[in-house]
Amino acid sequence: MIQHYVFDAYGTLFDVHSAASRYKDQIGPNWERMSQLWRTKHLEYTWIHAQTGRHTSFRTLAERSLDYASTIIGGVPAATRVNLMQAYETLSAYPEVPAVLAALKKKGATVAILTNGDPDMIGAAVTSAGLDGMFDAVITVHEVGVFKPNMRVYKLMTDRFGVAPSDVSFQSSNRWDAAGAQVFGCRTVWVNRTGAPDEYPDMPAHHILSDLKPLAELAA
Ligand code: LAC
Repeated sequence: MIQHYVFDAYGTLFDVHSAASRYKDQIGPNWERMSQLWRTKHLEYTWIHAQTGRHTSFRTLAERSLDYASTIIGGVPAATRVNLMQAYETLSAYPEVPAVLAALKKKGATVAILTNGDPDMIGAAVTSAGLDGMFDAVITVHEVGVFKPNMRVYKLMTDRFGVAPSDVSFQSSNRWDAAGAQVFGCRTVWVNRTGAPDEYPDMPAHHILSDLKPLAELAA
């Protein structure tokens, strides 16, 4: 049985769209489009910074991608930009997350986060979602200075626990992130919350779940 469960943070444990949802009245009718574009651009920026060897903070890239996305929809008021960035620091966890983490821990599993997020950002997210004390480790790319899916990032997990990649179950709602962990050698669980088509056929996820609820059963 796999004993180590490592989760991607943004989009997997925390709902990145909860920020724009909180301020949809200020953003206007295109708030969902803006939120999707914000997320897509944010990820694109991480990939470009990783590929060019110019590591920077995930928060900085969140700001730049928000500015891009809001410009595309015709702009948002300055106060809304401040609100959105503050909301990004206190995102909501998906509803099933506390119970799933508790169930895994009850089975004796180690539970951790592996994220692109800045250490203080992810710390604030964990606290504001009421998840303090639930994680055995919160690992950030800060330690290696490159974003996912660079293999050095996934190696942080196995170095931390002193185990082989196949001893780790890695959960992500980002298909590309599950692909990265699969190449590294982990068991991967793609959390396909939106019913998106599968991608990366040569880097398949071992399990596809529509949310995290069944994960504790996989740990049986
Ligand atoms: C993270 C991003 C990829 O938490 O969602 O690492």
